[in-house]
Amino acid sequence: MDKATKIISFANMKGGVGKSMLTVKTALLLASEPYNYTVAVIDADAQGTIVKRRKLEESKGIKDFKLEIYQSSFDDVKQITRELYSSEKYDYIFIDIPRSTTGYDAETLSKILVFTETVIVPLLASESELTSSIEFIKILKSLQEAKEKKGLVLNIFGLANKKRASLKMNDKVGQIIKGLKIDRFDTEIREVPTVFNNFNTNDSEYNNEKVQTYLVPFINEFVEKV
Ligand SMILES: Nc1ncnc2c1ncn2[C@@H]1O[C@H](COP(=O)(O)OP(=O)(O)O)[C@@H](O)[C@H]1O
Ligand SMILES: [Mg+2]
Repeated sequence: MDKATKIISFANMKGGVGKSMLTVKTALLLASEPYNYTVAVIDADAQGTIVKRRKLEESKGIKDFKLEIYQSSFDDVKQITRELYSSEKYDYIFIDIPRSTTGYDAETLSKILVFTETVIVPLLASESELTSSIEFIKILKSLQEAKEKKGLVLNIFGLANKKRASLKMNDKVGQIIKGLKIDRFDTEIREVPTVFNNFNTNDSEYNNEKVQTYLVPFINEFVEKV
């Protein structure tokens, strides 16, 4: 490994925007052929969305996972992240952050994202989602400023998720990203249940035609930009 581990989080304070799904899909593809990076996911969500799926697979006798998954409580994220980072084993570490019922303040968020250098905010093209996402991105930006003062980096990207070609709201996402002056992924994640609904943690399905069409372009942009 010739470069330092990159720590990434798909984050938004809203639930249901695709954080866990995008974490697993991205991490698993990166860990598999033809990318073959070493990748770990820290599931810091108390609901254990990702860990539960892995346990189910293990109970079915699946072994030899390419993607490593660690469970973490909110209080342990910092320590687990540090340990995995120090091991110098990984090209990428993803942290799946818990949703917040009360919303995040900068202090709480900075505890989870203390070592994270890239945050990707999944944005849904609906008015109610976007209002709270704007608030969330503003908090991220204050965190970014605080980090910069310490000579640290926080890259913030917007990523449109569940895009429907016909939806008028689609333009909104682009406008918001522009207005907030954050980076963005040009690739947009379409609403495709067959690819994005049923995520497993062991088979990247790289050769699946739909994965090629709807996901691989995002992964390629990710490798290039992150
Ligand atoms: N682009 C998409 N197309 C189809 N289903 C999606 C898409 N993005 C997310 N989903 C589905 O929406 C649900 C919520 O996603 P999830 O990743 O659990 O959200 P979060 O972690 O933000 O709460 C899941 O069932 C997921 O598979
Ligand atoms: Mg989740």
